[in-house]
Amino acid sequence: AWSQVPQGPPDAILGITEAFKKDSNPKKINLGVGAYRDDAGKPYVLPSVQQAEQTVVQQNLDKEYAGITGVPDFTKAAALLAYGPDSTPLKEGRVCITQSISGTGALRIGGAFLQRFYPGAKTIYIPTPSWANHKAVFLDSGLEVKQYRYYNKDTIGLDFDGMVEDIKNMPKGSMVLLHACAHNPTGVDPTEQQWKAISDAVKEGGHYPFFDMAYQGFASGNTDKDAFALRYFLKEGHLPCLAQSFAKNMGLYGERVGAFSVVASSTEEKARLDSQIKILVRPLYSNPPVHGARIASTILNDPKLNQQWLGEVEGMAGRIIKMRALLKENLEKMGSKHKWDHITDQIGMFAYTGLNAEQMTKLAEEHSVYATKDGRISVAGITTDNVGRLAEAIYKVKG
Ligand code: LMR
Repeated sequence: AWSQVPQGPPDAILGITEAFKKDSNPKKINLGVGAYRDDAGKPYVLPSVQQAEQTVVQQNLDKEYAGITGVPDFTKAAALLAYGPDSTPLKEGRVCITQSISGTGALRIGGAFLQRFYPGAKTIYIPTPSWANHKAVFLDSGLEVKQYRYYNKDTIGLDFDGMVEDIKNMPKGSMVLLHACAHNPTGVDPTEQQWKAISDAVKEGGHYPFFDMAYQGFASGNTDKDAFALRYFLKEGHLPCLAQSFAKNMGLYGERVGAFSVVASSTEEKARLDSQIKILVRPLYSNPPVHGARIASTILNDPKLNQQWLGEVEGMAGRIIKMRALLKENLEKMGSKHKWDHITDQIGMFAYTGLNAEQMTKLAEEHSVYATKDGRISVAGITTDNVGRLAEAIYKVKG
């Protein structure tokens, strides 16, 4: 029956892990997928997560279904973490939120919701470049995907003027996907000042902002600071929607904990949106898994554990910043003739090295260093032990 099904290519990001696993070099380095590692290169289960999980297990809870929109204690706390305690829409009870299968699931619910109900053209604009999965998620949701300028190859920084110009030139009422912080894959974020101009441009065009916040806490180490863009847009009167992930900031990758929310203009509108989100989710996956959400909820709702978690997030962000500095230092020590300031200027889990696809292939084939073909490396996979070897490999392929 399936003779017409063609062989597909491996996933641009998750396919890297498959290639890495096949390499027998004991010194191989995996900087592909964005997953935090400790300085020994090992996956890191946050102590706050371990503690919360024990609490959850000790409670001997049943395994009944959550509601369609998930564990209420979790979604309430997730909204508070994103929008902040001073958020007017939250206080007024007009944020419609549902638990999701992590950030990807949140984007997918969002895509489906917009496809079904967005009153304008079903086109969403994503930055160039964007997370490799954005386009696929929105296309599969039935939206048309276009792009706006974001990254400037020459400066290895933000193409701010290009971005604002493109936003202004979009057809009125377009949907715009914005990375709330720690832009993936470039690690290049707008400054607070620039966000203000971006908000103005979005407003001027009557556009609809969709924030993807997969890395809250991972950019600056501070969850409030990283929510600046989202909260600023709210203050400016935008009514955005938001995808949240707890994969990175709680290290709950495989537990798939996330949330999708829409800010409504009234509680009456919120009630209508709530009803439609349920109608959307039910045939998709019925209702979400409870275990990871219970862990996240325990952390977010227990003031002491919450404080501890915030410290651990800061610790992860801090180790990444240290590795950036070490990589740059090692490249300079090797005598590289290139400038590597962008490695330390960029923030979040990734560095956009500026290496091209051919150089990335060489890194893998000749040095067993695995990362995506666009030149992105997951800085979270660098350790004090492997940074020297990594710098040497980069120097050998790039000079
Ligand atoms: C990444 O970009 O590496 C992460 O967001 C993991 C993923 O699902 O692609």
